[in-house]
Amino acid sequence: MPSRRHVLALLAATPFATSCGEGLPDYAAAWRSPGAGEADARRFALAHAILAPNPHNTQPWLVELRGEDEMLLYCDLERRLPFTDPLDRQITMGCGAFLELYRMAAAEKGQLAEITPFPEGAPAGPLDVRPIALVRFNPVANAAPDPLFTQIASRRTNRNEYDPARAPSAAHRTEIATASAFPGAVHSIGAASDDEQVAAIRNLVWRAFDREMRTRGAQEETYKWLRFGRNERARHRDGLYIDVPVPGLLRAIGMLGEDDIVNPDSNANKQAARDWKRKVDSAPAFMWLATPDDAPTTRLLAGMAYARMNLAATAAGLAMHPWSQALQEYAEMADLNAEAKTLLGVDSEQTVQMLARVGYADSVEPAARRELGAFLKP
Ligand SMILES: Cc1cc2nc3c(=O)[nH]c(=O)nc-3n(C[C@H](O)[C@H](O)[C@H](O)COP(=O)(O)O)c2cc1C
Repeated sequence: MPSRRHVLALLAATPFATSCGEGLPDYAAAWRSPGAGEADARRFALAHAILAPNPHNTQPWLVELRGEDEMLLYCDLERRLPFTDPLDRQITMGCGAFLELYRMAAAEKGQLAEITPFPEGAPAGPLDVRPIALVRFNPVANAAPDPLFTQIASRRTNRNEYDPARAPSAAHRTEIATASAFPGAVHSIGAASDDEQVAAIRNLVWRAFDREMRTRGAQEETYKWLRFGRNERARHRDGLYIDVPVPGLLRAIGMLGEDDIVNPDSNANKQAARDWKRKVDSAPAFMWLATPDDAPTTRLLAGMAYARMNLAATAAGLAMHPWSQALQEYAEMADLNAEAKTLLGVDSEQTVQMLARVGYADSVEPAARRELGAFLKP
């Protein structure tokens, strides 16, 4: 096995141009003028909806356009995260975020999108083949534009280091909380920016992140969604991008393989852990979203609310980044999940649906998205 120094020397000697992905599809095309030229308001709305935040960027959405004005949303069941999201809670939130962006974009075309969650019944356990939602344009009502619409193409999940000395103002936190509310929403929003509570949340978030790194099933699941280097990102246009210049070369010398990435003590993961620890420690503030129950429709509403928070943060010039590990429901995380509720002051019968750091950071590139046609149910 080559030494780390040897690998770095190889990297330095390799022309960067080998990984630029020339001739491959543009991973970020969906973010540029979404819906431009689409005559059907549903396709215009869809082009915006696929820009929604969603767990691991699996893009778990499949749609059927029915008749003149209906859209049925299904979950692509192969794009769930069964180990870390055993209840499909987070995937359902990603579907809620999609619906909220669909609704906003439809309003931009004057269409009032009426959303019926789980029109054939909600699942008692994990999601199944039944639709997640039926969305119908109201033929008579005119929808008012949503001021957050203009933020859709600029919104990002920002995983950079944040400026630890610059917390969002109380006014900005109120703006984000207010923006998360909409008719029918059932959540409450919490926020922390005082040193003591922020330090306690950083500590919890870090322990949960470390726990996940040491949980083999979770790491194996994440590995499937990692896209190493620009070529892989352009080929898949989904998943989590890892910016490495020459993945082919690294693979050839035995790095970046699944064994290396799922092993918490590999050099790659020790380096990653140091980077993530710096990011956790840079968080100047956290916000969270809790709901009174955890029914499937509540999860959809929570996803809609989170999308609105992320958009409102964008409008305020703030970066936002979820840290979900401590909220996850697999057995290895149970103690930290209970601790999260206590720390955030959330009753034990409630559900913390989202916990995110908020602050100021350098901007990031957009995450990849597949082309519109990939989301149409065959
Ligand atoms: C319910 C939910 C949970 C998420 N949890 C995490 C997380 O724990 N860590 C993280 O880095 N991003 C998390 N994200 C952000 C997604 O990874 C992100 O939305 C996706 O990669 C697409 O990137 P984008 O938001 O920049 O479009 C979460 C998003 C959602 C909707």
